[in-house]
Amino acid sequence: MQLTHVKELESKFVLGTYARYDVLIERGSGAVLIDRSGKRYLDLLAGIGVNALGYNHPQVKQVLRKQIKRPLHISNLFYHEYQGRLAEKLCTLSGLDRAFFCNSGTEAIEASLKFSRAWGGRAGNTAANRKFRILALENSFHGRTFGALSATSTPKYREPFEPLVPGFEFVKFNDIGDLKEKLTDDVCAVLIETVQGEGGVRPISEEFYRAARTLTSERGALLIADEIQCGLGRTGEWFAFHQFINKSEKELLPDLVASAKPLGLGIPLGAVLLKESVASNINAGEHGTTFGGGPLACRASLEYFKIIDEDDLLDYVRKTGAYFKSRLDELANLSVVKEVRGRGLMLAVDLKVPGKEVVKQLLEKGFIINCTHETVLRFLPPFVITEKQIDKFVKALRPILEKL
Ligand SMILES: Cc1ncc(COP(=O)(O)O)c(C=O)c1O
Repeated sequence: MQLTHVKELESKFVLGTYARYDVLIERGSGAVLIDRSGKRYLDLLAGIGVNALGYNHPQVKQVLRKQIKRPLHISNLFYHEYQGRLAEKLCTLSGLDRAFFCNSGTEAIEASLKFSRAWGGRAGNTAANRKFRILALENSFHGRTFGALSATSTPKYREPFEPLVPGFEFVKFNDIGDLKEKLTDDVCAVLIETVQGEGGVRPISEEFYRAARTLTSERGALLIADEIQCGLGRTGEWFAFHQFINKSEKELLPDLVASAKPLGLGIPLGAVLLKESVASNINAGEHGTTFGGGPLACRASLEYFKIIDEDDLLDYVRKTGAYFKSRLDELANLSVVKEVRGRGLMLAVDLKVPGKEVVKQLLEKGFIINCTHETVLRFLPPFVITEKQIDKFVKALRPILEKL
């Protein structure tokens, strides 16, 4: 089927929620995608953070080939051998105690919010004074269901669907004073992205993280870390908050962590990690989902962690990320560049002008990136990207920025 036919079908029958590029992807290998005409694209976005191990990974293919000979779905009425193993892996790596599995990032946030509300209604509180308010940060993005959207600050995502869920309020980004003021006794949770992704690759400061942790503990609220985009190795740590605290410093860890994106290696999978103090407030039947934690996704996910370990990819992300950042820093003195920021392989060039045209020109030249928050060129390349590929990209980016 050719691109024109695919476009025709979609424009007639698919709901128009996505603005797509005129590219029909056919296959991929490593950090490269190839379209129907044979044109190659270096993918510096990794399927918006999902394809962290690149495309067509031989070990992943082999494991999945074997797994599809067994039941593709097993309901949560029964056990299968992978869910417990994956939960153990996630708990060991994060320092938290239990996992709940779902199918996407939004669902992981939705579950985190529900668990926080249930905790706020039960943990030593009477029905009359239950904690229910939730604080999120300005400029946040947490997803598009009603709960997750209520914690998302961007007006254009929120307005068509108002009124949203009551009880949400936004705190100024990295503003400890504002947090102190809004964190009253009726707050059950504070939700943060350790590095804001859609908001333009903006890391929260260590001071803010520590203040949020201390204040929530003092005032009897939970701390939720949304690590959907920045977690699972993206910043060079298993979880981005590990840059501030060690996983053995239990009291300093978040109470809940939302995870997704690369977790299922492209098979939809999300997870919420919880401390036992929160988990013990959730009873059987209070939350669940048909597909969450299925055998295929969990089997794939176990391989994700195995490959990262075997290939020492966290170290590779740190080194390659530092190299990529140093190459981007060379562009910092161009007149259109406001700031270069990020950590590991979650990087950005913030421009003084809109970045949409840069994305378009790069695509024509065979490079995939995106622009978030109008002016922020965002890079989330696969962990297998090489320095040579980075050099090629920076060489293509420079003249485009010079001519802007
Ligand atoms: C930080 C963050 N939270 C939540 C989500 C929503 O995840 P999903 O699109 O898998 O539902 C995203 C998606 O980009 C995200 O980056």
